[in-house]
Amino acid sequence: MISHSLGAVPRRVNERLREYADTWSSRSIRAWEEGWWEMPVTVGNLIGRIIGAGPGEVVMQQNVSTCVATVLSCFDWSRPRNKIVSEALNFPSNLYQCHALGKLGARVATVPSDDGIGVPLERMLAAIDDQTQLVLVSHVLFRSSFVQDLAAITRRTHEVGALVLADIYQSAGTVPIDVHAVGVDFATGGSVKWLCGGPGAAYLYVRRDLWPKLEPRFTGWMAHKRPFAFEDRPIDYAEDAFRFLNGTPAIPALYAAISGYEIIAEVGVERIRKKSVRQTSRLIELAREADFRVNSPDNPAERGGTVVVDVLNGAEVAREMLRRNFLVDHRPGSGIRVAPHFYSTDEELDLTIHEMQAVARERAPAAPAR
Ligand SMILES: Cc1ncc(COP(=O)(O)O)c(C=O)c1O
Repeated sequence: MISHSLGAVPRRVNERLREYADTWSSRSIRAWEEGWWEMPVTVGNLIGRIIGAGPGEVVMQQNVSTCVATVLSCFDWSRPRNKIVSEALNFPSNLYQCHALGKLGARVATVPSDDGIGVPLERMLAAIDDQTQLVLVSHVLFRSSFVQDLAAITRRTHEVGALVLADIYQSAGTVPIDVHAVGVDFATGGSVKWLCGGPGAAYLYVRRDLWPKLEPRFTGWMAHKRPFAFEDRPIDYAEDAFRFLNGTPAIPALYAAISGYEIIAEVGVERIRKKSVRQTSRLIELAREADFRVNSPDNPAERGGTVVVDVLNGAEVAREMLRRNFLVDHRPGSGIRVAPHFYSTDEELDLTIHEMQAVARERAPAAPAR
């Protein structure tokens, strides 16, 4: 029940990692020319199939923080148009990076939530104005699983002449997302959660027509048009998506990640979503029957793949559940996160909430003696 944090490992990962070690051992330096060099793009193509990007439009990096840093480094923050709009409930790495840009002149506006679950769309749209250079939003909020209206946010952003960077980590693989149809300018996410790809493999999509205009300051030799020229002068950016890379890619992580992407594409996110909506609805019912408050949206259209259950002494309850082999986690101010995926059974939903109830009862303060 931890797919919002660490998806299950595909059986084929063992074979892929063996293949990596065999290639390293038998092909040595030749492996780069025989596939390794291109892997940030060939593996990115597998992600492209899941998020609606075209071939060659997605590059792999090591984590979302790196992808976000790449995008943020494309902009000049000393101009009058220096505002970044985000939501207060966005993933902290994203916000840390935006606030750090204050030193370069950026102004950060974080749109607050009233209930700690959702962000009112009108408030988000109103924050996006003609001073805005970039809108950095999460499609699905990690704290509550609230789904933001990315299409409406993108429309408004483009109306004012700004660009959108969508963090789709908590949607890709469980909530359908089509980056072309929505029209976002950038999208990023990682593989640790719903894509069952493990750590070290994150992806960055950049709208193709923007490529010639974007020159990331966070860069490296792989982004050079002639990487092996080793020149002592400003970089001449590659014309393709390699321009968004930096240094040597995390090849073993890419080998490990492939199987998850293949499986998710094979099962299909539409089918995954259908089952997820049914199972998260059932989880909410079970949690309420057990007298727990639910900190995720009731409306399935506004809810991603996770249900957040507010439990007294939540951190402690989650720790005890882990000890009992019920894999969940706890986020302060939100609650215990429970996330079934396409491999989860209905019986596991019942067992999880019943165990949570049992642990919470054991930890409840004793009623005062009369
Ligand atoms: C929405 C979201 N963005 C970003 C991250 C973190 O990204 P990374 O550790 O790859 O930088 C997470 C979770 O780990 C997340 O849930």
